[in-house]
Amino acid sequence: MQKYVLSTIMGVESIAKKEIERQGWVIEEVVDRLITFSWEIELIPRVNFWSRVGNKMYMLLAEADNIDNFDSLFDVVNSIHWKKYFKKDFPILVKATSLRSELTAIPTIQWVSKKAIVKSLTGGSGDHVNEDRDLEKMDILILLIDNKVRVLLNTSWKALHMRGYREEAWEAPIKESLAAACILLSNWRFKEAFYDPFCGSGTFAIEALMIARNIAPWLRRKFAFEGLQLIDWETSENERALARKKRFEWEYKIYASDIDPEMIKIAEANTARAGQEWRIDFQVKDFKAFVEPGLPWTIVTNPPYNQRLKDDNIDSLYKHIDKLFRINPELKWWAITSYTDFDNLIKLSEYKKRKLYNGGELCYFYRRK
Ligand SMILES: C[S@@+](CC[C@H](N)C(=O)[O-])C[C@H]1O[C@@H](n2cnc3c(N)ncnc32)[C@H](O)[C@@H]1O
Repeated sequence: MQKYVLSTIMGVESIAKKEIERQGWVIEEVVDRLITFSWEIELIPRVNFWSRVGNKMYMLLAEADNIDNFDSLFDVVNSIHWKKYFKKDFPILVKATSLRSELTAIPTIQWVSKKAIVKSLTGGSGDHVNEDRDLEKMDILILLIDNKVRVLLNTSWKALHMRGYREEAWEAPIKESLAAACILLSNWRFKEAFYDPFCGSGTFAIEALMIARNIAPWLRRKFAFEGLQLIDWETSENERALARKKRFEWEYKIYASDIDPEMIKIAEANTARAGQEWRIDFQVKDFKAFVEPGLPWTIVTNPPYNQRLKDDNIDSLYKHIDKLFRINPELKWWAITSYTDFDNLIKLSEYKKRKLYNGGELCYFYRRK
């Protein structure tokens, strides 16, 4: 059995672990942002297609303890049978991270490791000179933690949160994987109404619909494993076909609104790119006009958190959020925000909060108890 490592954003490891266990894989270890598990090599496409909260999926090619000098690092990397994974002239990119280890000079770690790979691929001739810019590079990560090295081959390429439906640029979108994690944490029951009143580019509504419809979140994107020698085209196409068959049909009640008409246009374009255009009800609406309609609603949202509100003051908006949910205690309400002053505006004892990160930005995910 081959070992793999799925990297995640900080704070969502437990959800990533559940995702992997649900597919029947055997978890070996869960440490900060890294889930190690093992399974057959043919199943690389399945994790890449289905992981909603993962960041990148790596194959663990080698691991060794006590790597405190460059000679031993060279030996570990050189001992891997690189020809098995890719052709001699494939462009390669070596990245490195070092935490609490003797070897700290990242450029040297990269240089030594690349030298070891090239030597293994070329048998010592060192003529691995393909720098073709049109070819995506094979991405190798040398991870050193407490002098333990892990040599990892990226099977995803771009991070998995880049689903491919969100092309329109705008200022503060939440990562797709983080939005999916928030929805999974909310325990939303799919047949009840879902609402995002600050929808921006539509990420929560689109992710909610994809979760409810059991759509694998890999829309229209390329993966590194498609360029590896290990998995044939047929295996990965079979996995795609299998994933498509798992979609559910139902009249899900998914609503989303935003005060800015431009954002609603972007959200609708993103939803169309995700192939779901008629299934989400988008409206231009001020959150303050929201009246609870007597349905069991789940609200998962990402309110504005900077000072650029046009005609309002951010504190009064957050006070309004708190008031609305105070007078409608039956609403299931969750919000992720990096607006830390929120704590001063509410009775904290009425809320639960969980630390999460959007990119590098610290956020809290609030829920009224
Ligand atoms: C942090 S963004 C949401 C980002 C969104 N989660 C995404 O992924 O694109 C907050 C959104 O709240 C909207 N907004 C600000 N004030 C509002 C109000 N009073 N009512 C409704 N929406 C508002 C902004 O236009 C902005 O799109």
